[in-house]
Amino acid sequence: MESALDFHTARALLEWQIELGVSETIGDVPVNRYQLEQKAPKPKGTRAASDTPPPKPKAVDPVDVAQKAARAAESLSGLRAAMESFDLCDLKKGARNLVFSDGQAGARVMIIGEAPGRDEDRQGKPFVGRAGQLLDRMLAAIDLNRDSNAYITNVLPWRPPQNRDPLPAEIGMMVPFLKRHVELAQPDLLILMGNISCRAVLGKQGITRLRGNWAEAWGKPVMPMFHPAYLLRQPHMKRAAWADLLEVKARLGALS
Ligand code: URA
Repeated sequence: MESALDFHTARALLEWQIELGVSETIGDVPVNRYQLEQKAPKPKGTRAASDTPPPKPKAVDPVDVAQKAARAAESLSGLRAAMESFDLCDLKKGARNLVFSDGQAGARVMIIGEAPGRDEDRQGKPFVGRAGQLLDRMLAAIDLNRDSNAYITNVLPWRPPQNRDPLPAEIGMMVPFLKRHVELAQPDLLILMGNISCRAVLGKQGITRLRGNWAEAWGKPVMPMFHPAYLLRQPHMKRAAWADLLEVKARLGALS
């Protein structure tokens, strides 16, 4: 029979019983918990659906998908389109724009930053905020600029929420696109800004140790440097950045 008691009455009755010393609730009919559940017999010759587990959906490997999509891109615009249609990175869902690149494709110097921030996400261009303005001044100091002889991109084309560090899995699935980006842009050398780009391109981090030392990746000379956002917070490190820029200038001279 359905109880017509409201919540407060039921609660008052329960409390009254507890006051009387009730410490257990026991049903009117005993339950034999050792008894196995009886199953209806199967008709002969038929297999229950539960006998054959449903085929597992094939796990999609985002790195594999990214590699195939990146390899298939034959131009920078094709690569951009491939990244636009890549749906396996959750950062895409929270971003306003895909930030692909800025500057001159085919320039001798390609700069690789980490990920777009708020301003870059809004404008769809890398390095347009305060760190970007400092980057422009740093490049100008060695006669480089995005209007004629520098090309700029990021490891991640989508802004991470609250500018958090990208996760290793997010970096891993975007590296094939970055590698293809370098192949298609054909710079003479790469400048890596900060730890995330070092991790993506060199598979290492520890920018204080790596910076200023030439490395090689994807067939190109690579110069790791402090990120301009870090230099804004630690201006006394600009001296090291200046030394690294002079290294880049000297290498460009030697390669020409
Ligand atoms: N920091 C980066 O690494 N990239 C940008 O585009 C902006 C800030």
